[in-house]
Amino acid sequence: MAGFKEAQGDLRLESVTKTFGDFVAVDDIDLHVPRGSFFALLGPSGCGKTTTLRMIAGLEQPTSGRVLIGDTDLTGSRPYERPVNTVFQSYALFPHLTIRDNVAFGPKRRKAADAATLAADALELVQMTQFAGRKPAQLSGGQQQRVALARALVNHPEVLLLDEPLGALDLKLRREMQVELKRIQTEVGLTFIHVTHDQEEAMTMADTVAVMNKGTIEQLGAPADLYDLPRTRFVANFLGQANTGVGAIEGTDGDHLVADVLGTKVRINKARSQVHDGNVLFGVRPEKVQVSRTKPDGVGNDVKGVVRDVSFLGVATSYLVDMPSGTTWSCYEQNLDVDPIDLRPGDEVWLTWNPGHAFGVAAEDQ
Ligand SMILES: Nc1ncnc2c1ncn2[C@@H]1O[C@H](COP(=O)(O)OP(=O)(O)OP(=O)(O)O)[C@@H](O)[C@H]1O
Ligand SMILES: [Mg+2]
Repeated sequence: MAGFKEAQGDLRLESVTKTFGDFVAVDDIDLHVPRGSFFALLGPSGCGKTTTLRMIAGLEQPTSGRVLIGDTDLTGSRPYERPVNTVFQSYALFPHLTIRDNVAFGPKRRKAADAATLAADALELVQMTQFAGRKPAQLSGGQQQRVALARALVNHPEVLLLDEPLGALDLKLRREMQVELKRIQTEVGLTFIHVTHDQEEAMTMADTVAVMNKGTIEQLGAPADLYDLPRTRFVANFLGQANTGVGAIEGTDGDHLVADVLGTKVRINKARSQVHDGNVLFGVRPEKVQVSRTKPDGVGNDVKGVVRDVSFLGVATSYLVDMPSGTTWSCYEQNLDVDPIDLRPGDEVWLTWNPGHAFGVAAEDQ
C-alpha cells in the first residue's frame, strides 16, 4: 500500500466524533467530499468547524471514527504524513524571509531540486510574482493572505484546508479574494475545504455546502438546493432569510398539505415538507412573496398584514410587514415599473406566494 502522503481520491469522514472531556465538539459526522471539489463547512461560532478541519489535518485525533483519502485510512497518522495543507486566518509567514523564500520553504525542506521553480509557479498562480523580493511586513493583509495560499499550494496537497482564511480582510478585499480563490481552485483542481461562518461566502464559492450546528451536519448540498429547500428550521434561518409561521396540518388538497396558521390556510407542496402531520413550520423566501394593496384572485396563499417599513434599494424595494401572528415578514419587489405601488408604514397589504415556493420543516428543533 502507498504511504499516507501518496493517498489520492475522495475525502471521507466516517462516524467521526471528537469529545473534550464530557463536551462533544463533533458528534458522529459522516462526510464525503469528491476529489477536486470546492466544499464549504458553514456554521455558527463553536459548532465544530475548526475541530473537524484539525482532525482532517491530523492536528487532532478523532475520539472515534475514521478519516480517509481514497482507500487510505489516515486516522492516527501525523500531520506531516498527510497530503493535506492548511491555510489559517492568521497567515503566520516567516517575517525574516522574503516572499520567494517563504513559498520555497516547504519544497526546500523536502529537498525538491526545483524548489525555486515551484515557488515561482505558485507565486504566479496567486499573482504575487512582482512582490517576490519583499518581506511580509511590506505587504498588505490581502497580499500576505495570497502568499500564505501560495505557500500551501506549492506542496500540491491532495486536500487544501482553509480555516476562515479571509476573516481578517475588509469586505471589499474579501469579495475580491473569494472570486480569486474560486479561480485558483478551478485552475489547480485540488480538493478545497473552506470553513466559514459567512453564508454568502459559502454560497458564492462552494460546489457543496455542509451546514453544521452543534457538532452535527444539519444538511449538505449545492447552495441553490439548500436555499430552495431547507430541511430544518436551523438551515432555513442560517442560510438567507426566511419568512416563517407555525401551522397545524389539517389535511391535504391534491399535492398539497393544508395548514391552519391562526385562521389563515396555507398550502405547501407535500414533496417540499419534511413533516406531514401535527405542527409544521412553513417558510417562504422574501423574494418569492408578492405585495399588493388588494386581495389577489386565485393564488391560494394570502395573508393580510400591515406595512412597518419601506426601503428603496434601487434595484428593488424592500418591505417589512407585520403579520397577524405577531412576526414580521420581509419581501422584495423588483423595481420594474416607473410607478411602483406607493406603500407607507401603516398601510394594509396582502402578501401572496406560490405554494410551490413554500417549504415545511419540523416546527420544534429537536
Ligand atoms: N482543545 C479544546 N478543549 C476543549 N474544548 C475545545 C477544544 N477545542 C475546541 N473546543 C470546543 O469545541 C467547540 C467547537 O470548537 P471549534 O473551534 O471547532 O468551533 P468553530 O466552529 O471553529 O467556531 P468558530 O467559528 O468560532 O471558529 C467549542 O465549544 C470549543 O470551545
Ligand atoms: Mg473555528
